[in-house]
Amino acid sequence: MITAGTTFGSDVDDIDALVDDPLALVQRWLPPHDGELRPLAALSTIGLDGLPSLRHVLVSDRDATGVFFHTDSASAKVAEIAANPVAAMAVAWPEVGRQLVVRGIVERVSAAEAAAVYRERSRYLQLLAWVNTHENAHLPVEARHHLWAEFAEAHPELEPPERWAGFRLRPLTLTFWRGDPIGQSTRQHYTLADGRWSGRILAG
Ligand SMILES: Cc1cc2nc3c(=O)[nH]c(=O)nc-3n(C[C@H](O)[C@H](O)[C@H](O)COP(=O)(O)O)c2cc1C
Repeated sequence: MITAGTTFGSDVDDIDALVDDPLALVQRWLPPHDGELRPLAALSTIGLDGLPSLRHVLVSDRDATGVFFHTDSASAKVAEIAANPVAAMAVAWPEVGRQLVVRGIVERVSAAEAAAVYRERSRYLQLLAWVNTHENAHLPVEARHHLWAEFAEAHPELEPPERWAGFRLRPLTLTFWRGDPIGQSTRQHYTLADGRWSGRILAG
């Protein structure tokens, strides 16, 4: 159980006061792209049927322009982004009492940037990006394992498939939720208008 004195809510003292540049705060909360272990985000787009569309993706990176994720161009999310280039993303760190919510505009990154991220992904994820097709998903599991092993053996080194695509979520709103084991949880909610961020404090 998390009690006062444990790490819950204790690593984000930096958000007691509103800041001028919340993207700098995003860069403190999300790790840089320097390892295979990436934070997991719930990513919502607008489904082609008009309903919200939701799945989890790894957060590849973040910088002063936004938050990056990578995916397969044949996936539903890419068709949804093409139709409606907007998304929302939520990342939670329940063990330390934090949540970040990003809403904004989605832009595709260059092939070179996407390839650089691919090279940092684990061997498993590199193989997955090639083998993970709807056609293969219909095969029996033994056939899928065989195909995977054969492909891996034939390709000791891999470059990204053409379907591999990177996207930046460029924030228009940012919400930093902070838990507190001995008090109320709070949020800092920021909106971007005319190139300037304005923030307000909300109940958690
Ligand atoms: C732990 C975890 C990590 C995942 N990471 C990614 C990812 O980084 N990129 C991605 O396209 N899909 C990732 N997926 C799969 C997606 O959740 C989703 O099933 C897939 O992208 C197809 O989504 P769509 O048809 O809604 O576009 C991940 C799933 C899990 C459970």
